[in-house]
Amino acid sequence: MEIVTTIAELRAQRHQWLLAGERVAFVPTMGNLHAGHIKLVTEAKRVAERVVVSIFVNPLQFGANEDLDAYPRTPEADQARLREAGADLLFLPQEAEVYPNGREGVTRVEVPGLSDLLCGASRPGHFRGVATVVSKLFNMVQPDLALFGEKDYQQLTVLRRMTADLNIPVEIIGVATERESDGLAMSSRNGYLTPEERSVAPALYRTLLGVAEKLRNGENNFDSIEVAASAELVAAGLRPDYVAIRRAAELGSPDSGERQLVVLAAAHLGRARLIDNLLINLD
Ligand code: PAJ
Repeated sequence: MEIVTTIAELRAQRHQWLLAGERVAFVPTMGNLHAGHIKLVTEAKRVAERVVVSIFVNPLQFGANEDLDAYPRTPEADQARLREAGADLLFLPQEAEVYPNGREGVTRVEVPGLSDLLCGASRPGHFRGVATVVSKLFNMVQPDLALFGEKDYQQLTVLRRMTADLNIPVEIIGVATERESDGLAMSSRNGYLTPEERSVAPALYRTLLGVAEKLRNGENNFDSIEVAASAELVAAGLRPDYVAIRRAAELGSPDSGERQLVVLAAAHLGRARLIDNLLINLD
């Protein structure tokens, strides 16, 4: 696996692959890699000849009171995992390579509407930061395909819309959420949990499974299902931010006959803010 830190080196390698007619799949990450990230790399290898992974903790997507400085950084372990997974190139830019004119005045990419709901409501500016860095990374890497986890379902939806709206010639692929054996969605932020909080955390997934079962049984009073699910999270010891049943395609509020749903939830537990979701196809 080649490791590069500059856009010039990245482009030189990408050009070689273009000349060789090899397709490139791209997996952007913020590092502290776990089995969920590795699943994206494995899937990337299946769909393209070459796989590029980036690790960049993007300051633009963190709020002023969020965990930018505390965000876990594990470069050696990450490189070992990526080598083992068979990534071809790791792009590890410094902040000055990505934002040479600083963070403040940078041209930004805004996906209105979608970015303001759910996690966007509690994290203002977060999805603008994500859309901005991902569009920049797309221009740096120039991949044929890019893979993102369904674990961050709103992010995946925002990035699909951005790519379509800006006519970016990259195919976006969503990959199913990788979970711990007790159902907890793998996340770099799970490391913030104390052992006791860690034992409580799977309640988030269990609650989503309960919502899915109600929907499959034909219940369609979405408001009351959401309220009951929030109460369940509180009873388990979490502090829910939201539980929301939405249309899977664009996260709008569903009417009672909608068949393609997603239930999304975010909840605080100790220092961590956990998110999870389940896609529910009623057909
Ligand atoms: P990060 O949280 O490092 O996640 C990188 C990718 O891994 C994202 O596409 C995310 O959805 C996926 N992922 C995380 N946990 C997963 C799991 N349990 N199962 C499957 N996939 C999982 O998401 C980001 O970084 C950043 O916002 C980024 C897109 C890199 C832009 O900075």
